[in-house]
Amino acid sequence: MHCKILGIPLQDGSRRMGCEMGPSALRTAGLMAALRELGHEVTDLGAVQPGAPRAVRHANPAIHALPEIAAWTTAIMDAAYAASADGMPIFMGGDHAISAGTLAGLARRAKALARPLFVLWLDAHPDFHTLDSTMTGNLHGIPLAYASGQPGFSGHFPDLEAAIDPGRVCALGIRSVDQPEREALRNAGVTVHDMRAIDEHGMAPLLRAFIERVVSANGLLHVSLDVDFLDPSIAPAVGTTVPGGATLREAHLVMEMLSDSGLVTSLDLVELNPFLDERGRTATLLVDLTASLMGRRIMDRPTRSY
Ligand code: ARG
Ligand code: MN
Ligand code: MN
Ligand code: MN
Repeated sequence: MHCKILGIPLQDGSRRMGCEMGPSALRTAGLMAALRELGHEVTDLGAVQPGAPRAVRHANPAIHALPEIAAWTTAIMDAAYAASADGMPIFMGGDHAISAGTLAGLARRAKALARPLFVLWLDAHPDFHTLDSTMTGNLHGIPLAYASGQPGFSGHFPDLEAAIDPGRVCALGIRSVDQPEREALRNAGVTVHDMRAIDEHGMAPLLRAFIERVVSANGLLHVSLDVDFLDPSIAPAVGTTVPGGATLREAHLVMEMLSDSGLVTSLDLVELNPFLDERGRTATLLVDLTASLMGRRIMDRPTRSY
């Protein structure tokens, strides 16, 4: 596989600084070497540059950094569309606001290829707020709603050339949902497997059912991995920790099953805040999970104590 690595040092999706260091930390933790060891060709495409902030406003006074995020979204969308022409783009955030752009660019690519795009959203949060519903105003809480064509973004965010079909989105690991998101997710038909479902059924059958849907539709599959999908005890380097997250074993299992499926065509690694990390353990874990996704197996996994 030809892995194309893009750094997207965006941190304006929340009010806490640090996510702009995410790409550096993933490079330092050995992302490129891990992929090359697995036999992949790796091209580092460097950093996406945001355009100049756009003079956009919104009536919701809580919203933070709309002009900046709107400009980033345009740049990321174009970069994601270009990078997805061939090979496997890996988007290193940056906070989850980058996915407004990655998803929009990938949806445009799927349309050009006339293939359905599926999205596996690995996160404690569904990030399904609109500009009208967000209470914190942190725009890392809106990317899935924007890219799937929820109302109220027009005139504030770039218009979508193609939207994601929310019926082809599976959100896994969810455990923090705000009231307006709950209703919108239901109406849009997003598949939500919360932690209760994972506890009751286990990761494997839930993920297998989704993988089978992608297979039968001959779909593209984008994986968006938010650090807070993982339990804070193994992944402390994130601003929005929520207790009760995926374990090390569950997370590797997800990646290994995805790897076996051979379906994954692109990946986001988001919300890593190296300023909050402990001796690089979260960055290292993300590299190991990416390696599992890209073919590393237990019998050739390095021994680590995080
Ligand atoms: N729903 C909350 C909000 O709107 C939390 C969002 C967290 N999103 C994230 N990408 N970490 O602020
Ligand atoms: Mn998120
Ligand atoms: Mn999250
Ligand atoms: Mn409006």
